Amino acid sequence: MVIFGATGDLTKRKLFPALYNLAKDDFLPHTFAIIGVGRQEMTTDEFRTQMVANLKEFIPGGPEDKLLKWFEERIFYTGGDFDDDKKLFSDLKDLIGEVTTKLQIPDNYFYYLATPPNLFADVTHKIVKNGIGKEENGNWRRFIYEKPFGHNLESAKQLNADLLKTVKEKQIYRIDHYLGKETVQNILVFRFGNSIFEPIWNRNFVDHVQITVAESLGVEQRGGYYDSAGALRDMIPNHILQLVTLTAMEPPVSFEPDAVRDEQTKILHAIQPFSPEDVLHCAVRGQYGEGEIDGKKVPAYRDEAMVAAHSNTETFAALKLTLDNWRWADVPFYIRTGKRMAARHSSIVIQFKQAPFTLFRNTSVERLRTNRLVIHVQPDEGITLHFGAKIPGPIVNVGPVDMDFNYVDHFGEQVSTGYERLLFDCMIGDATLFQRADMVEAGWSIVNPVLDVWSALPAREFPNYASGSWGPKASDQLLEADGRSWKNLVD
Ligand code: BG6
Repeated sequence: MVIFGATGDLTKRKLFPALYNLAKDDFLPHTFAIIGVGRQEMTTDEFRTQMVANLKEFIPGGPEDKLLKWFEERIFYTGGDFDDDKKLFSDLKDLIGEVTTKLQIPDNYFYYLATPPNLFADVTHKIVKNGIGKEENGNWRRFIYEKPFGHNLESAKQLNADLLKTVKEKQIYRIDHYLGKETVQNILVFRFGNSIFEPIWNRNFVDHVQITVAESLGVEQRGGYYDSAGALRDMIPNHILQLVTLTAMEPPVSFEPDAVRDEQTKILHAIQPFSPEDVLHCAVRGQYGEGEIDGKKVPAYRDEAMVAAHSNTETFAALKLTLDNWRWADVPFYIRTGKRMAARHSSIVIQFKQAPFTLFRNTSVERLRTNRLVIHVQPDEGITLHFGAKIPGPIVNVGPVDMDFNYVDHFGEQVSTGYERLLFDCMIGDATLFQRADMVEAGWSIVNPVLDVWSALPAREFPNYASGSWGPKASDQLLEADGRSWKNLVD
C-alpha cells in the first residue's frame, strides 16, 4: 500500500490504526508493506518513529508489542516534490522494487491518495508514467481517492475524465468512509435480510424520512479547507446521499458491486432536481455563532482559525428531497447536517403514517402517536422501534414505548475506525462499497443547483444559529411548513 499524503491527519488517525486493526484480526497478508509518500523529506526510521507514536495514541488500550514490531518493520517512507515529474516518482519506483524483493511481496499494489483532489489526476498520471501504475501479467494496481471528489459537478466530471485517460474504471476506488460504518452496512441486511420490514417500506405506510448527521465539533484545524467547501459540499453529495440511497433503494439482485450500485444510482436519478425557485423553499443554510457545548464557551465560526472574518460559508445545511419513483412518490426525505450542533448524533428516522383514529374516538386518547423506526448510525449504534402501548389501568390510554436493539449489548464493543472494511475490500478487489463515476456525478448534480443559488445570493443573516443548538430556525420551518417536525433524539 502506498499512501500519498502520508504525513497528514487521515494517515495518522484512521489509515494506520485501520491497518493495525486488520493485522490484529489476521486480515492483512503476511506479505504486506506500507510506503508513505509526503512532501516532507524524512527517513524511513523517522517516519516509523512517528507512526509508532501515533498508533500508541490512536489504538484504544495501546498496540500489542509483538504486532507493533511486525508492523513497524513493514513501514517505509519517501519524500519529495509531487510536482516534480521525475525524482519523487522514480525514487518511489525504486523503493517499491526494494521493498517487494526484500519482503517477497507479490507484484500487486494499491495507492491511497489522501491529498487534495486537485492533485489526484496529476499524481495518478505520474505514477502510471513511471511504470508503476499499469496492470500487466495478471498483477493489479488500484487507486483509492479520498473525498472530496471534485468541488462541483463540472470539476468531478473533469476529474473522472482525466483519470480515465490513464487508468481504467475498475482500478478506481472512490472512498466514502460512511460506507465503512457497520450500521450503514446493516441497513441493507436489516431491510433485505428480514421479511417483515420490506412490505411496509414504501409510500403506503411511510409518511416521511428524516436523516440527521449532527456534529458537536466545530471545524477544528480544518478551517482552510472547510471555508472553501462548506457543509453542503462536505457532507451531502457523499455521506448523506449514501444514507439516502441505502434507505430508499430497491432490493438488488445480488451483492455483486454493480448490482448494488445500479440500484443506488437509480435513487440518485429519482431525486428531483432543484429549480432555483425550489432552492429558496427546499434548502436551508446556516452558520454557527458562538455558544456553549458541554458547558464550555465556544467561538463563532467566523472566529475560527483560517476562516475569513466575514465568511459566508455555511456550516449547516438542510434539504427537502423529493424522490420521483413508484415506491416513494409523495414521501419527502428531509436531510440535515451541521457543525457545532447540540450533540454528536446521526440517525435515519422512518416515520410511519398514523393509524385511523376511529376506534379511540370515545376514549380519553386525544391523539395517536405514530410509529417510528430509528436507525442510530452514531454514536450509539442500534435500531429503535417506537410504538404505542396501553397504559395499565381501567381507562383506555396509550403511551409511547420503545423496542431497542443496541449493537454493543449484542455484539460487544468493536474497535474500528470505519476504514478497515474499505481497505480490505480494495485489496480483494470488491468495489461494492465504493462510488462509481456516475454515482459521484449524480450526487453532485443534486447539490449543484443549490450551490449555484447560494453563491449567487450570499447569506445575509449569518451567523444564524448558536453553537450548541439544533441549527437555524429556518430548518425547523422547513418541516413545519409541511406540518412536521425534526425528531431531536438527544436533548
Ligand atoms: C468528513 C468531513 O468526511 O466526515 C468532516 O469532511 C466530518 O467535516 C466527518 O466531520 C464526519 O465523519 P464521522 O465519521 O465523524 O461522522
